[in-house]
Amino acid sequence: MTIDILTIFPEMFFSVLSASILGRARQQGLIEIEATDIRPFSASKHKNTDDYPYGGGAGMLMMAQPIADCMRAVCEKRGVPCRDNTQEGESAFSNVRRIYLSPRGVPLTQKLAQELAGEEHLILLCGHYEGVDQRALDKYIDLEVSIGDYVLTGGELGAMVLADCVSRLIPGVLGSEESPQDESFSDAGLLEYPQYTRPRTFEGMDVPEVLLNGDHAKIAAWRREQAILATVQRRPDLLEKARLTPKERRMLIDKPMEP
Ligand code: ADE
Repeated sequence: MTIDILTIFPEMFFSVLSASILGRARQQGLIEIEATDIRPFSASKHKNTDDYPYGGGAGMLMMAQPIADCMRAVCEKRGVPCRDNTQEGESAFSNVRRIYLSPRGVPLTQKLAQELAGEEHLILLCGHYEGVDQRALDKYIDLEVSIGDYVLTGGELGAMVLADCVSRLIPGVLGSEESPQDESFSDAGLLEYPQYTRPRTFEGMDVPEVLLNGDHAKIAAWRREQAILATVQRRPDLLEKARLTPKERRMLIDKPMEP
């Protein structure tokens, strides 16, 4: 997969993209991620990327021109057509998804991350100031994504979050020891059970006995119960869609776990 990031702060990405699992995946050639600076594409003398909003109001907006030129340049560099969504005749088919990070976007969920992990190429646009001229979005953005119901100073942190959670779903990016099987928001739709490693006793707190006896059926049952309990306590909103057995559902009704 290729991920291009369009930003006026490319330096924000260097350490995040080079460290840990993402850094290793890039070195192994499993993903290619590049941040491109929008500023040099500005046609203005002082390479401005923002201006006052028509109609007044607080703050500045990112101008359409530098973004559009940067988007076209990135597409050209990658050898992919830069579809113009305002032109009806343009082919709807494309193996590129162009995403604008914005609090107005659809929420980023594990399901959406899984869908995006199936794409060949993502282009992430990071906004700044009070937003982006709508015409740049109308022309070149296929999807707006929000990483949560709060407002960040810019889309960069959102782009990092999206790039991280999509990349780790690409086959080979996680080693077998980092498997995404049992974790929160996996197929069962439950939060993850608590985990313990050595030592057996830490500052007077013991590892739960059940994890020490090697009885795999008992361990699995305990982890399942703990996952349900964590979900009841922390995210009861997830229970409705969680894949619980009829017995587990009855248990929740007969003997509700106190949140
Ligand atoms: N930019 C500013 N706030 C954002 C959010 N919540 N998600 C994604 N991008 C953003």
